[in-house]
Amino acid sequence: MTLRRLPASERIFATLVVLALTAALGLGLAAVVARELRAAGPGQPPPARSRLVAVLEGVMAPNVTPAETRRFKAWVASGATREGFAQVEPVVANNCASCHGDGGQAPRLLAFEDLRPLALEPATEGLAELLDARFLHLAAFPLLVAVAAAAYLRRARWAWRKGLMAGGWLAAAWDAGQWWLRQGRPEPHWAAWTGLVLLAAAMVAIAGAVLADLWLPDEG
Ligand code: HEC
Repeated sequence: MTLRRLPASERIFATLVVLALTAALGLGLAAVVARELRAAGPGQPPPARSRLVAVLEGVMAPNVTPAETRRFKAWVASGATREGFAQVEPVVANNCASCHGDGGQAPRLLAFEDLRPLALEPATEGLAELLDARFLHLAAFPLLVAVAAAAYLRRARWAWRKGLMAGGWLAAAWDAGQWWLRQGRPEPHWAAWTGLVLLAAAMVAIAGAVLADLWLPDEG
């Protein structure tokens, strides 16, 4: 099979689709990289609205009293420091640990190290939800790679296409898996970066193979 035999109009359309998929993945990866770098930087100012506070006022509201939520807010506003953690530690132990303990509901919420990234992560609401990390890693990235592979790479005339398709699936699975296990925690960095690099490499390779099949002259 080859894409080269398609009429010129369809080849141009395929080219645009593949470039658009690659660009969309690039934008998503850039958003994720920006988030990783911000999470990694020391001395972050607290966000205008923290994910932790948004969750406590939203889905987790039944698990806290308004007074307890105010304590979390004060801790976040003061920079979510280790010293200040004492003011919310008893609430975490009494109200959260039963569900968010080891092996329980993700994210794990037991210690300062678990709470701090959530406190410093800006809440995503409304339109920003589209670029929410959960959506990008679990849905958008796998979908973009899958569409490029299934719609175009599969039909390209290239002996290694199956291997590259498998590589694309693995890269997407690795990235989704590492995000799921880290759940907003900045460490370990290497897991995040390998996920991003693998995804970018897989998409560039897929796009390159498809474009070569579309436009390079027959070798004989
Ligand atoms: C009765 C069990 C239970 C208790 C107690 C509980 N949670 Fe949760 N929590 C859950 C479940 C179930 C989810 C997943 C539901 C969801 O994401 O909508 C969740 C999700 C979360 C999330 C991720 C949601 C997101 O969108 O980012 C955070 C953060 C969180 N809880 C914080 C807390 C905090 C802080 C406390 C203590 C004040 C707490 N939870 C107490 C069951 C619980």
